Amino acid sequence: MDKDYRFLKACLRKEVDVTPIWLMRQAGRYLREYRAIRKKHSFLEMCKTPEIATEITLQPINKFELDAAILFSDILVPVEAIGIEIEFREGKGPIIHNPVRSKEALEALNISELEERVFFVAQSIRLIQQELNGKVPLIGFSGAPFTLASYIVEGGHSRDYLVIKSLMHREPLIYHLLMEKIAKIVLDYLKIQIKAGVQAIQLFDSWVGCLSPWDYEKYVLPYTKQVIDGLGRKVPVIHFATGTSGLLELMKRAGSDVIGIDWRINLDVAWRRIGYDVAIQGNLDPAVLLASFEEIEIRVKDILKRAAGRPGHIFNLGHGVLPKTPVENVQALVEIVHQYSRR
Ligand code: CP3
Repeated sequence: MDKDYRFLKACLRKEVDVTPIWLMRQAGRYLREYRAIRKKHSFLEMCKTPEIATEITLQPINKFELDAAILFSDILVPVEAIGIEIEFREGKGPIIHNPVRSKEALEALNISELEERVFFVAQSIRLIQQELNGKVPLIGFSGAPFTLASYIVEGGHSRDYLVIKSLMHREPLIYHLLMEKIAKIVLDYLKIQIKAGVQAIQLFDSWVGCLSPWDYEKYVLPYTKQVIDGLGRKVPVIHFATGTSGLLELMKRAGSDVIGIDWRINLDVAWRRIGYDVAIQGNLDPAVLLASFEEIEIRVKDILKRAAGRPGHIFNLGHGVLPKTPVENVQALVEIVHQYSRR
């Protein structure tokens, strides 16, 4: 059955009738239905309650003709499960109260029995699949090792990533121990999701664009590759990152089925450099969704032209849907992509 979904076919570079589309953060604050639930619960409560996570996952699926659902959760959920204290402040992003900056703190992280501590994630996946009832495939996800490690040592969002870079360059042994531990968690966490029923995986390496190719190759690539190899090609893997114009060829070596790019590079240029033996996902600037239907249409057509009808393009934004996005623009985007990409 899986092979009939155009999203899964495109991940594996098979011919499709129209270009599939889903959106990062397709469930979120731009939806009135999301804000109504958010008023009553903390963000982590929403992630940890299967009935709520299911309802939110389905909100955009019931509203738009999207080609895939993505589990409602956050990349920091497994981080909290290993003993890191996280607070999600509205509009401010996550803050970590006990960042890991020493060998002792690193050793104190408890990575055993992850499955028991994230049981709600598997429960959510099973409940979502029941409710989706085969309508569209479900994507699971994890932060990639470097992005999670950055959060854990920086303690929150960072402008210059100097804490993680200092660790990398001045205390490489601790850095490598941290990455080994996190890569293991990421792999376990993704296997739990696949076992529960997700049909594809996206690895979010949102912060990796801060690195030189040298550092990426030496300090990040081996761990991302280890995770992708460890999944053993059971489901397609999308490897997404932003600001990666200098890293695309190296990212390819991590071995995913699909590479997700942002809007800072043209899709045809990126695809040519990656090679057509890997599928590509992207790459409309989310800010274009704040513009008129006409502008959205022009920009969608440009991206589709650059993809040139090649098998293996999944339409998405270059990053998540912005909270101020008008709902009717998302509706229009999905329709325009389907209309203009019909083979
Ligand atoms: O894409 C989806 O719809 C699935 C759900 C999802 C969320 N976060 C929901 C969320 C996914 C896949 C993520 C991934 C995530 N989380 C990333 C990687 C992608 C990216 O954006 O680069 C990162 C870096 C995080 C960490 C994180 N979580 C940040 C920076 C924030 C705050 C940003 C903001 O918009 O306020 C969160 C909170 C968060 N995660 C929200 C949602 C819907 C907003 C929570 C709220 O309602 O207050």
